[in-house]
Amino acid sequence: MNDTSTTTAPGLLAGKVAFITGAGRGIGAAAARLFAREGAEVMLAARTETQLQAVTEEVRAAGGSADYVLCDLADAAGVRAAVDRVVDRYGRLDIAFNNGATLQRPGPMDQFPEADFDHVFSVNLKSVWVAMAAEVAAIRAAAGTGAIVNNSSIGSLRGNPELPVYGAMKRAVNSLTESAAVTYGPEGIRVNAIAPGGTLTEMIRTWEAESPGVLDRIRAQTPLRRVADPDEIAQAAAWLLSDRSSFVSGTVLRVDGGARA
Ligand SMILES: NC(=O)c1ccc[n+]([C@@H]2O[C@H](COP(=O)([O-])OP(=O)(O)OC[C@H]3O[C@@H](n4cnc5c(N)ncnc54)[C@H](OP(=O)(O)O)[C@@H]3O)[C@@H](O)[C@H]2O)c1
Repeated sequence: MNDTSTTTAPGLLAGKVAFITGAGRGIGAAAARLFAREGAEVMLAARTETQLQAVTEEVRAAGGSADYVLCDLADAAGVRAAVDRVVDRYGRLDIAFNNGATLQRPGPMDQFPEADFDHVFSVNLKSVWVAMAAEVAAIRAAAGTGAIVNNSSIGSLRGNPELPVYGAMKRAVNSLTESAAVTYGPEGIRVNAIAPGGTLTEMIRTWEAESPGVLDRIRAQTPLRRVADPDEIAQAAAWLLSDRSSFVSGTVLRVDGGARA
């Protein structure tokens, strides 16, 4: 017997075209799966084609719409070309999750090589600026209004002696986020950041390998006494990119199990 009182709610991101950087694994891959489940058409970007292919195929197998573009975030022209590819493929851009980033080698700032500083700067900060500029232009050109979420870190919120350069770039991402929210708000483009706490991905496993015990320390300092599953971080990004957060702009939302409370 049919239950006529039951309706199927449209997905949180139904009908939206989404661009996600760092979508081959970790939080970005979780976002690709989630955004597609919530009705978005998703364009994935990163450097490792096998990973992008795998996530794209997974999304398609589940009935979603996905494609990917190879892109090195250290290459500004490549970032712009990736955003152009979204518009070529789907006709417009509505939402973007600037998520891709690299970890720095852990350690005190005086031990950090200058060339590594420049690399972390390019990938973790400059790419966010380049991507936002291209995304705003793409949103304006067709959709008119839209939303952007940048992936920061709770490591941006106070001194970060183990990851000082990473922390500095993420702090600057928060500033760019706030400035972009103020600049583009009047035309209906919302810009927010999320600040994840410890999340079980390759990035944190790399940190653990270089600084054994860091995962246990993060768990102990997190009131929920665990690290996040990547999907829990993607959920916050999805909400901020959805119309449900229509009056939220310029915020840096901690998604950290209470670690900075
Ligand atoms: N995991 C955590 O505990 C944690 C906590 C706070 C914030 N975050 C932030 O969350 C975001 C996602 O990190 P994650 O933990 O999911 O890390 P991850 O598993 O290492 O994934 C990083 C993604 O970014 C891509 N990427 C890295 N360097 C790139 C480059 N030069 N060009 C293009 N793509 C690049 C990677 O793909 P390729 O290597 O194939 O290019 C990969 O798809 C980052 O912004 C990170 O800072 C993570």
